[in-house]
Amino acid sequence: MNSISRNVQSVEISGIRKFYNKVIQYPDAISLTLGQPDFNVPGKIKTAMIKAIEDNKTTYTSNAGIIELREEISKYLKGFHINYSKDEICITIGGSEALMDVFAALINSGDKILIPNPAYPAYESCVKILGGNIVTYNLKDDFSIDFDNLKRTLENEKPKVMVLSYPSNPTGAVLSGDDNRKLYNLIKKNKLIVISDEIYASLNFEKDYFSPAQYNDIKDHIILVSGFSKMFSMTGLRIGYVCAHKSFMDEIMKVHQYNVSCAPSISQWGAYTGLKSCMKDVDYMCSKFIERRDYIYNKLKSLGFELNLPRGAFYVFPSIKNFNMKSEEFCEKLLKEAKVAVVPGSAFGTKGEGHIRISYAYSMDKLKTSMGKIEDWIASHF
Ligand SMILES: Cc1ncc(COP(=O)(O)O)c(C=O)c1O
Repeated sequence: MNSISRNVQSVEISGIRKFYNKVIQYPDAISLTLGQPDFNVPGKIKTAMIKAIEDNKTTYTSNAGIIELREEISKYLKGFHINYSKDEICITIGGSEALMDVFAALINSGDKILIPNPAYPAYESCVKILGGNIVTYNLKDDFSIDFDNLKRTLENEKPKVMVLSYPSNPTGAVLSGDDNRKLYNLIKKNKLIVISDEIYASLNFEKDYFSPAQYNDIKDHIILVSGFSKMFSMTGLRIGYVCAHKSFMDEIMKVHQYNVSCAPSISQWGAYTGLKSCMKDVDYMCSKFIERRDYIYNKLKSLGFELNLPRGAFYVFPSIKNFNMKSEEFCEKLLKEAKVAVVPGSAFGTKGEGHIRISYAYSMDKLKTSMGKIEDWIASHF
C-alpha cells in the first residue's frame, strides 16, 4: 500500500493497548493493565488550574513553556544532583511527546538506536516511524544491564544513540550506583548520545537515586526525558519535559515547535503548583505504592511466581515459567477464566516473553480481590 508510509506500516499498535481492548470485552474483569495511578490529582493542582483559567492564562505560552515551571524543574532536579538550567528545559505534552521530539531531532534514516529488551514499547515504535534501526541490549534476570552483552553490542553495532529507562516500566528495576558508574565509563569511551527516560524518578523506593545525568562531565551527551503524569497522578493533563544541552535543545525545539507549538498552558500552571506545593502528596502516593508493592510481591511469591522485588515505578514483572505457557496464552486464560487482566510480557520485547506485567497503580482492595481470584485459578488448574 503505497499511500501509507512504510515506516508507519512497520509499527503495530502497542501490545498494552491491544490487550486492554480485549479486557473491555469482559466488563466484570478486574484490570491491572494500565500505568495510571488511582489517586486524584492533588487539590492544590486543581485549584491552581481553575485559577489559571479564571485569570485567562489560556493563550500560547513560549515554545519552551512557562519560565516559572522550567525554573522549578531545574530546582527539583538539583535534589537528584542533576543540573540543567531553565534554558536547557522544554515543557512537552507528556513524556510521550518528549520522546518523539528527541528521536526526531536525532535520527537520520538507518541510524542505529540501542534500546533495552524488555522495554516500554514506545521507544521501538518511535524509532521505526522515524526510519531508524533498532538494536537491543539485554537485561539480566534481575533486569539490571548485562554489561558483557552491552559492550559486545557497542563494539559490533556502533549505535549512535542509547536509550536508558530506569526506574523501569515494565520491570520495576532501578539503576544501581555501580551500574551508573559503569555506564558513565561506557558513555564517555564510546561518545554515546544517551536518552534517559526517568519519568518514574519520583517513584524510587531506594535510599539513593542514580542517573548518568548526575555526571557533569558527560551531561552534554545525556538527554533527560521526564514528566508529571505519574508523579502527580495527572496522566490526562499531559505535561512532560526534556532536558538537554543547547546543541541538542535547539534542534529538539524545532520539532516541538512545528509539532505542538507549546504544552497546554493551564496544565503547565498545574504542574508548577505541584512542584511548589504538592511534594507531600507525592510522598504519600509513594508510601502507598510501597505498601502495595510489598503486598503483591509477597502474595505472588506465595502463589509460586518467581519475581524480583520492584524498587521503583508501580509495576511487577513476574516470571511465569512455572506455568508452562506463553505470556499471551497465560494472560488470555487468566482474563477469560479468572477475570483478571494483566499484560503479556511479550508486549515489551522478546526478552519480556515468559513474564507478565502487573500494574499496582490500583487500590489495595482491587489488588486483594484480584490476587484472590488468581489464587483460586491457580489452585484449580495447576
Ligand atoms: C517509561 C515511560 N516513558 C514515558 C511514558 C509516557 O508518559 P506520558 O503519559 O507523560 O506521555 C510512559 C507512560 O506510561 C512510560 O511508562
